[in-house]
Amino acid sequence: MTTAITPLIAGNWKMNGTSVALAEVGRLAERLRAGAPPRATVLICPPATLLADLNRIAAPAGIVSGGQDCHPALSGAHTGDISAPMLADLGAQYVIVGHSERRADHGETSALVADKARAALASGLVPIICVGETEAERRAGQAVAVVTAQLAASIPEDWAGHSIVIAYEPVWAIGTGLTPTTQDIIDMHRAVRMTLEARFGARGAGVRILYGGSMKPANAREILAIEHVNGGLVGGASLLASDFYAIISAL
Ligand code: PGA
Repeated sequence: MTTAITPLIAGNWKMNGTSVALAEVGRLAERLRAGAPPRATVLICPPATLLADLNRIAAPAGIVSGGQDCHPALSGAHTGDISAPMLADLGAQYVIVGHSERRADHGETSALVADKARAALASGLVPIICVGETEAERRAGQAVAVVTAQLAASIPEDWAGHSIVIAYEPVWAIGTGLTPTTQDIIDMHRAVRMTLEARFGARGAGVRILYGGSMKPANAREILAIEHVNGGLVGGASLLASDFYAIISAL
């Protein structure tokens, strides 16, 4: 872990949760208030339908919120889509873009992901840009090449200044209980850091690089201790306050 970077623990609820789920945010807020101050920024990305209500509970406990996707345009005739300014209006500070589920389910390309990240930045949101290889790509020895190519095309050409976050999420590790070996995470996060530094210099050195994919209380401590792992993007284990708090506390 690079000490100058404040880690980020981000919960991605995906398409889970109606208003009943907000009770878990209340439980997490209670735990955070009762315990030592967290060593990370704590973020929850709920379904957009819950953002406003979640913020009323989360903000007083220092928990920030984010969207799970945004449209590349700031407004317009795009029925059913949500824009980055709409998320910001509800109090979101971050937005996930290019999650592998969106790349797979909606055919999102890295060029589109870059446009979404640009819309997020223009709206004052921090984009969490997701990259990751499939199982077949890893087996073929292509993992680093695939991820660095996704990175090259998913970060806006004109990125300057405002924060971005990168999330490395091997597709085969998401929701499966499988995780890469420690050495594989070391190698990938180092490759991501080198790619960022080569392109952006000192700014690239300050970008938070999250690991995502079956992060749980049982493996969080080991994963979060790896160099250039600056936090986690947590799916399933973010739905229960007790599990999510255990991951936050693993730092
Ligand atoms: P998971 O999901 O923790 O349930 O594997 C991670 C993600 O997709 O962000």
